[in-house]
Formats: sequence, structure tokens, C-alpha cells
Amino acid sequence: MRWRMLVFVLATTALCPGFGAGVREQSLREAAQDSGMLIGTAVRPAHLSESAYASTLAREFNMLEPEDVLKWETVHPEPQSFDFSQADQIVDFATRHEMKIRGHTLVWHQQNPKWLTEGKYTSGELAQILEKHIKTVVGHYRGKIFAWDVVNEAFDELQPGKLRSTIWRDQPGIGLAGNGSAYIERCFRWAHEADPQALLFYNEAGAEIMNPKSDAIYAMVRDFRQRGVPIDGVGFQMHVANLQSDVSSVSANIKRFTALGVQIHITEMDVALPVDATGSPRPEDLQKQADIYREVATACLSHPRCTAIQTWGFTDKYSWIGSHSKKTQGAALPFDRNYGAKPAYQALRDALAARPR
Ligand code: XIL
Repeated sequence: MRWRMLVFVLATTALCPGFGAGVREQSLREAAQDSGMLIGTAVRPAHLSESAYASTLAREFNMLEPEDVLKWETVHPEPQSFDFSQADQIVDFATRHEMKIRGHTLVWHQQNPKWLTEGKYTSGELAQILEKHIKTVVGHYRGKIFAWDVVNEAFDELQPGKLRSTIWRDQPGIGLAGNGSAYIERCFRWAHEADPQALLFYNEAGAEIMNPKSDAIYAMVRDFRQRGVPIDGVGFQMHVANLQSDVSSVSANIKRFTALGVQIHITEMDVALPVDATGSPRPEDLQKQADIYREVATACLSHPRCTAIQTWGFTDKYSWIGSHSKKTQGAALPFDRNYGAKPAYQALRDALAARPR
């Protein structure tokens, strides 16, 4: 009768993957798909030819976002020319692997080309340049990029709740300086004209908890929604430093924003750890890091309009945290430098798998 047992085990394993010892565990992507969640990561096209990078990316994520190559300095290197070659590689990869694509970012004060920042343009000229940029880039990816970070980090770091002084707002700005968030509104309207189907997001750093910055963004988004300005979502970057995250405040913040009818995406999550001279973290910190990934993911998953969780890269090999912190911090992502899954990975997967369908 042994063969009958064998047939039973084979049939059960085929019908119910996960049954039996030694059967492969779910990927993040599989766990997310079951609960209808988007799980994404930031991507640099130069690494796509590395097989471990490409296979991990395709296996684990159902969404991606170019980390840098849609920023002005790459995509608009000269006043009259656009260069989509690098972003197109990422879009091709995503299409081949049936992944959704977020676009990042159309309006920011960093990673802008010199011709723009040193061009001494008038407000009228800048408005024309910005409108053309938004419409050309969004138009190029119309129907391919489903969600855009239209404006990134427009609120100030040092003056809580105040708009940042930038080339787009008031240096010299696009002609709406002194009108608060009117310049941001104009950008959303241009993006909407270029692709009426795309979801349009405002993306921000350090606004994931209740604080003066998120209060100001909340007021802006409420005003936009009341007046029919085309905004569909808010991105919370979620770069966690010093192993500090006030998750109950994150949850309350997600609750109040989603009550306005907008979606929330966690857009750039990483949890930086102190590292030694070889770049290695303390083992006990890896567990604390995992707890933060789990808690933030669970906070998002418990609000129906929090629809995406994205990490800022996925392997510690290529995270921006090292250069950003002059190598004092690192190891911020769910995979180590050899693409091994860390406790943070298990935590994310468990949170995704635990969501009721
Ligand atoms: C970072 C990239 O990760 C780096 O590769 C680049 O050198 C600098 O920018 N907030 C954002 C992102 O919105 O665009 C930034 O990305 C990280 C902070």
C-alpha cells in the first residue's frame, strides 16, 4: 500500500503548495498577491544584468520604481533633449515580469541638472520648462507607469509646516510664489492632463507620523480634494533612523489621510542600522529592525486604502544608506549583501501573509 501513500503525498503537494516538509516557502510577492497588496522596491538599471539581483527582484516583488533614473539630471540632461534609455530598461524588466511601475519624481529640489539650476531663467520660462518636462515624461510612460510621485519633499525640514524655498516655488518659482501650494497644484494638473489614468501622489520624508509637517500636508491634501485638484495619494517615504519608529502615530496618520479618500503608499522604506568598519550590523539589531518592518507593514495592511509597501532597494549591497551616512549606517534592507533573507524579510512576509483576504 506504500504507493498509495506516495500518490496521496504527490497529489496533495501539487494541489496545496506549502504542504509537506521541505516545500519552498512563499515569496514576498506571493504573500502580497494573496492579500491584494503591492510590494515594491527601488531599482537601478545598472544592476539588472547581475543574475542574483534580477532573479531576486522578479521573484520577490510585484512593483518597482526607478531609484534615480527618472530624476531630471538623468532624464532631461540638456534643455532640448530627454533621455529615457535607462528608465526604459526598468520598464521593460517590469513588463516582462508583470510588475507594476511607480514613477519617481517630476518635481524636486535635488538631482537637477546644472543647465536648469544655473540657467537664470525667469518665472515664465521656468513654468514653460516644467510644464514641458512633466507632459513629456508622463506622456512617454502613459499607460505604463500607473502612479507618479508628482512632487517630492516640498515641505521644509527646519521650519515645521512651511513650504521649502526651491527653484520651483520661489527661487524664482513658476510664477505662483506667495500663493502657498498653488505651484504644487499646477504640477498635479499638468500631470493629469498628460495621463488622466495615472494615480498622482505627493511624496514626503519625515511625514509618516503625526507632526507639523504631516499636519501641513494633510491640510494641503484636504484642500486639493475639496476643490477637485487631481491628487490620488500620499507617499510616506519611511526612512527609519536610530531604530526609532512610533508605529501608533504612523497608524493614526494613515487613518486620517485615507479618510480624505486618498491612498497611502509606503514608498521608500529602509531601517538603517549602525555598522562596524566592515559594514556589519550587531546581530541583536537585526531583530529590532525586523520588528520595525513588521509593525510598519502591519500598520499599512490594517488600513484598506494603504495599498503599497515599497523598500528603497532590497539588498544591502546597493543601499543608498551607506553613502548617505558616510558608512556609519547600513544594513537597512530585507536582503543582506549576498541576497540572503534577513529577519526583516521574514517579518515582512509574515505581515503580508497574515492579512485577511
Ligand atoms: C536617493 C537615491 O537612493 C540615491 O541613489 C541618490 O544618490 C540620492 O537619492 N528621498 C527620495 C529619494 O525621495 O529620491 C532619494 O534617493 C532618497 C531620499
